[in-house]
Amino acid sequence: MRIGIIGAGNMGAALGKIWAKAGHHIIFSYSRNENKLRQLAASAGETARAGTPQEAVAHSDVILFAVWVSSLEDIIQALRPLNNKIVITCVSGLQPDFTGQTIGLATDLKISVAETIQQFAPNAKVVEAFNTTFAEIIASDSRQFGSDFPSVFYCGDDVEAKQVVAGLIEECGYQAVDAGNLIVARTLETLATAWVQFAVSSQLFPNLGLKALRR
Ligand SMILES: NC(=O)c1ccc[n+]([C@@H]2O[C@H](COP(=O)([O-])OP(=O)(O)OC[C@H]3O[C@@H](n4cnc5c(N)ncnc54)[C@H](OP(=O)(O)O)[C@@H]3O)[C@@H](O)[C@H]2O)c1
Repeated sequence: MRIGIIGAGNMGAALGKIWAKAGHHIIFSYSRNENKLRQLAASAGETARAGTPQEAVAHSDVILFAVWVSSLEDIIQALRPLNNKIVITCVSGLQPDFTGQTIGLATDLKISVAETIQQFAPNAKVVEAFNTTFAEIIASDSRQFGSDFPSVFYCGDDVEAKQVVAGLIEECGYQAVDAGNLIVARTLETLATAWVQFAVSSQLFPNLGLKALRR
């Protein structure tokens, strides 16, 4: 699969490296430091390279948005229409000071960040995922906690896109949990905020995994 990473920071770098190791073709993009992007791509292996966000979109079927919410609107404006692209967003509306206020984009504060992406790019297949895990866990050697593996909840409106994203979640070593349609992102983003706050207040950050138990 060809995956374009927009935002090669904690989340984008960690996920891109795992997917590159699994054999996917990765383009890392969107950094203020081009050298950092090149070094990241080199460390990810032969199937990874650095590029511009426009190249990442043009040469990929799946796009990961791993940027801060404050940058998101400008980025989407520059990259849309994103027609038929599977767009994974892990962008959360968490305030930078972790006060926990979930914020949407300025255009509509009542809906989720993920739905706002969908509004900006109506023909993209937006799937929200990876919001309730920490980059430090993704970047570590394994997602294993004792005999357990954490869940990653995902939601979206396109069934096939969700299947693709579920596969990418499982390749990272998580249990993929279908949380429903994209509207669920409103509460999933809030859950992510609560999860970060709990991790900080319990002083267990980042060594925590959230799991949906089934019986
Ligand atoms: N970290 C987590 O554990 C975690 C978990 C779940 C969800 N999230 C969400 O994932 C998103 C990314 O988080 P992250 O921790 O990966 O962030 P990060 O490490 O700060 O990465 C942000 C990326 O955006 C790039 N960028 C380019 N221009 C920028 C600008 N003007 N200002 C700021 N960044 C710019 C940064 O490039 P540079 O190389 O120049 O820094 C970096 O590659 C956020 O929405 C966050 O809420 C994070």
